[in-house]
Amino acid sequence: MADVTETSLPHATVRDSAFLRACRREPVPHTPVWFMRQAGRSLPEYRKLREGTAMLDSCMRPDLVTEITLQPVRRHGVDAAIFFSDIVVPLKAIGIDLDIKPGVGPVVANPIRSRDDLAQLRDLTPDDVPYITEAVGQLVGELGATPLIGFAGAPFTLASYLVEGGPSKNHERTKALMYGDPRLWADLVDRLAEITSAFLKVQIEAGASAIQLFDSWAGALSAADYRASVLPASTKVLASVEHYGVPRIHFGVGTGELLRMFGEAGADVVGVDWRIPLDEAARRVGPGRALQGNLDSAVVFAPWEAVRAKADEVLVAGRGAEGHIFNLGHGVLPNTDPEVLTRLVAHVHSASAR
Ligand code: CP3
Repeated sequence: MADVTETSLPHATVRDSAFLRACRREPVPHTPVWFMRQAGRSLPEYRKLREGTAMLDSCMRPDLVTEITLQPVRRHGVDAAIFFSDIVVPLKAIGIDLDIKPGVGPVVANPIRSRDDLAQLRDLTPDDVPYITEAVGQLVGELGATPLIGFAGAPFTLASYLVEGGPSKNHERTKALMYGDPRLWADLVDRLAEITSAFLKVQIEAGASAIQLFDSWAGALSAADYRASVLPASTKVLASVEHYGVPRIHFGVGTGELLRMFGEAGADVVGVDWRIPLDEAARRVGPGRALQGNLDSAVVFAPWEAVRAKADEVLVAGRGAEGHIFNLGHGVLPNTDPEVLTRLVAHVHSASAR
């Protein structure tokens, strides 16, 4: 221990955190837990801080980003922080005219539907997002031994917002472009892969200790279409950050039939939604990858005894995976009682202690 200096100590403990150990499929003292969308509207302290500041403006203010990211860590004692930002921030940063409308989501002024429209998608450089570098740097200092997860939107999910012009249930214009002009589609998702890679690199170089690639809407695709039209671009993104050695988590909703390919894309950890049990997900994903998930986000509205029973089911099924990070099957719903989340963290820790 004599050679452990004060400056190397915090670093060593982040590396040894339960979250990063589980990502690496190493033994853990307890199953680590964090929640997608843990920073946000379920917290009164978040709503107070955000009052009068538009979502995208708040993402560009390092002081706000730092505080909002820390709020759920302090309150719930989760094992990881997720950087407060949004998947459309890098698109905004390269000059795409878009906004996040409260209760709606990202809305794009000039949707991308032709080859000429592709010119809107220039490369992203670190100079486009100085506030990201600053906020990540601040956070890593404040978080101490708690790892920070950086993230980005995957090419398909970003393409859906850009082509539809906003949130979409059926992704009809997106699929029309994918089937109708496969070359334009391939160029579009390849451009987005470049931008996404650059955005992830900024976060990793500033100190993020894991990244999550959100392909939230990829579950809208058949396995064959995913393989032909989306997998190459997502693979390119995950490969572009492989050399940093930080765990790469890859998540989407409704991806039961795509899970093996989510792993093949280059994920160290595959995120699973609530529709299939983790032991079955482990069989589908195959060896060599950890899993993250997958309590139904709506379960936390039930009485505590039911929440606890459902969480225990997730923990038991999670033993079928080589590494397990407890999470919800999708994001925290806005009306969630934050006290239930705090209780859930404590329960996962004590029930899984070994
Ligand atoms: O706590 C965290 O998880 C970190 C912050 C985070 C946000 N968005 C903040 C946010 C993360 C990781 C995201 C990712 C994101 N954004 C995804 C992928 C994850 C997923 O849920 O599948 C997607 C698809 C988006 C696009 C987006 N941005 C949507 C669908 C919405 C919600 C629209 C609404 O108001 O219902 C947003 C806005 C957004 N992003 C909010 C937050 C906290 C709400 C804005 C507000 O507080 O007014």
